[in-house]
Amino acid sequence: MLSLSEMAVDVLTTADGREKTARSRRHAAEWAQARTGGALPEIGRAAPPLRPSRPDRPALLDPREVPKRKPGSPQGRIALLHAVAHIELNAVDLHWDIIARFADVPMPPGFYDDWVKAADEESKHFNLMCDCLEEMGSQYGALPAHAGMWRAAEDTARDFMGRLAVVPMVLEARGLDVTPGMIEIFRKAGATAAVDALETIYAEEVGHVAYGSKWFHFLCGRHDLDPKAVFHDLVRRYFHGPLKPPFNEEKRAEAGLPPDFYWPLADRPA
Ligand SMILES: [Fe+2]
Ligand SMILES: [Fe+2]
Repeated sequence: MLSLSEMAVDVLTTADGREKTARSRRHAAEWAQARTGGALPEIGRAAPPLRPSRPDRPALLDPREVPKRKPGSPQGRIALLHAVAHIELNAVDLHWDIIARFADVPMPPGFYDDWVKAADEESKHFNLMCDCLEEMGSQYGALPAHAGMWRAAEDTARDFMGRLAVVPMVLEARGLDVTPGMIEIFRKAGATAAVDALETIYAEEVGHVAYGSKWFHFLCGRHDLDPKAVFHDLVRRYFHGPLKPPFNEEKRAEAGLPPDFYWPLADRPA
């Protein structure tokens, strides 16, 4: 059996999306099986690439150059699902990257359990989005996608707490804010497969934000730091620009993110 870090690097260095997620799910199943049997597989050390391997398509464009499409049209709905697929593929890499990148920081086994489970779910999310796109006569790679999604990872490549603050507690929390509106678009269009897929994503993303908050607080406790002050400091340092309301306060609370964590970072006062 590979060490967990070797599994992570195997996923990160696989370019094709379906192949990347297949490997991710296989490794996650192997990890979960070993853990259920009471074993703790080796975390090990393996150097993750600065940037993960990706397919030739989609073409990656500056966000300002990605064409905007009306969500009311079938083409607009395809573009929306394509954008989510792209986010999910980035999420797969982000979850494996944090495991390998910070493997030198001793963490309890539960940390790895949470991140492997989240990586497995992100892999499922990518496949769900690809299935929906294919059912609508498109596919992942057919449209351009946002470049720069890996920027948060590069900016926090040497700061474990910064990574937790920016990725699960800001970026994934943002997903909780915008997903209900997206589900409504597909519900109105009668696209039940997409509604079901997005509902699954929405439910599981609450867990990912909760993992972020849990382990961020764990590290604050280890270093005797005030979580709220450190969170504000790290987000201001590594996240470019203010957070955008409206916030999904209920789901954020469910995920262990209180309002005084994010409102002070918003672009208008409460
Ligand atoms: Fe996801
Ligand atoms: Fe996620």
